[in-house]
Amino acid sequence: MAACPVLKLPVLKIFHHISSLLNWRDSVDDLSRTIGFIPTMGALHAGHVSLIQKAKEECDYVVCCIFVNPSQFNQSSDLVKYPRMPESDSDLLRNCGCDYLFMPEVKEIYPNEVAKPILDFGTLNTVLEGSFRPGHFEGVVQIVDILFSLVKPHKAYFGEKDFQQLAIVQAFSSEKYPEIEIVPCPIIRSEEGLALSSRNALLTEAQKKEALIISRVLTSLGELSEKMSPQEVKSWVYTHFQNESSLVLEYFELVHANNFEELQSWDDDGVALIAAYCGTVRLIDNHRLAPLYKFNTDTGRLQDQIG
Ligand code: PAF
Repeated sequence: MAACPVLKLPVLKIFHHISSLLNWRDSVDDLSRTIGFIPTMGALHAGHVSLIQKAKEECDYVVCCIFVNPSQFNQSSDLVKYPRMPESDSDLLRNCGCDYLFMPEVKEIYPNEVAKPILDFGTLNTVLEGSFRPGHFEGVVQIVDILFSLVKPHKAYFGEKDFQQLAIVQAFSSEKYPEIEIVPCPIIRSEEGLALSSRNALLTEAQKKEALIISRVLTSLGELSEKMSPQEVKSWVYTHFQNESSLVLEYFELVHANNFEELQSWDDDGVALIAAYCGTVRLIDNHRLAPLYKFNTDTGRLQDQIG
């Protein structure tokens, strides 16, 4: 776990109720103070720590939320076994210098049954996670909407490990909360390459080793793309998982990073996305294919394609 280099620790104030969160929020002067927000479902790890550190660098106040959101689980068994460790999570946030933690009960957020929103972001919400986890993104947008409306952050930090979730949050937020800046943060991996995830807490040490096939496949894509088309790489990956691994591959897809349409050529701005079961634990990971920086022959410098 990455250590947080904070010398003088501020006090972590915990809100369990919406009313106390709102009392605090009303007291913040938006013109002179900025709020950075990190929504999570807890079981915090170094990936979350990196989001908190970035928010601390960029904002006056850092607010984290821990809420295992039932409406985004498409299988009740997954909701039941989802790791919950509020005490060690609070300690970690305190050590990181997080200022506020919102940790409500389910009935505080959903006092009555509320219908989930209907999403219409084209391919973005219908493929991959959208098709394998029906209702999942609707639940994510539902809770992000509730939390954004309560916390009213200036910036909100999301990890790129949930690449499709990040794209959907960006699409939703640009429509409903254009004033909130969504800050994407890079995937944090274990030394061996496993993408950090709260669900890793459910893996045995042996399973963590078996799961490394995911990052190995993703990092070999550069080499594979030199001799195979995207279609050929896809079938190679399926065969490789079948022959070489105990993990059950749910999907491996190569898509455009902006619209999630199937990738036809390596020249496009692509992303490889993968979901696989390691025992009963579902793991996801991804890898951007196009370099973010290209050499500009006019200026003789690296040019940022995105910014
Ligand atoms: O990525 C997560 O942990 C969750 O989907 C989120 C964004 C906190 C919403 O519950």
